[in-house]
Amino acid sequence: MPVYSDKVMEHFMNPRNVGEIENPDGIGEVGNPVCGDMMTFYIKVDDNQLSDVKFKTFGCGAAIAVSSIVSEMAMGKTLEKARKITPALVAQELEGLPKNKYHCSNLGAQALNKAIDDYLKKPGKKVKSKKRRKDEKE
Ligand code: FES
Repeated sequence: MPVYSDKVMEHFMNPRNVGEIENPDGIGEVGNPVCGDMMTFYIKVDDNQLSDVKFKTFGCGAAIAVSSIVSEMAMGKTLEKARKITPALVAQELEGLPKNKYHCSNLGAQALNKAIDDYLKKPGKKVKSKKRRKDEKE
């Protein structure tokens, strides 16, 4: 059985931002064909920033912890910064994942990115350039 960090266990036992957003601006759904786990992210975007992020995950404990931490990492970020959430950063934020569970962190980053893609596909939506977002803070 894999050994999880305290942070993984904490997010698995008390996942943040679980659920759906009513009338989301973007939805991203991914699945892992090998293990059969599914993850769906819902986002709300205001002025180029993620004002709400929720998820529904049917999967292993690591996938639930990954979803929870990704939702926290993405909340309040601009779309550009949210796109920079990589599986490696997710694993780091969770204080590590067992090697055989590393693929679970891919799902979180992929689902979030798909939700952002879904938002940007809608007419009239475009990521603002860095120049126009000079006032933006971390
Ligand atoms: S085992 Fe499939 S996402 Fe974790």
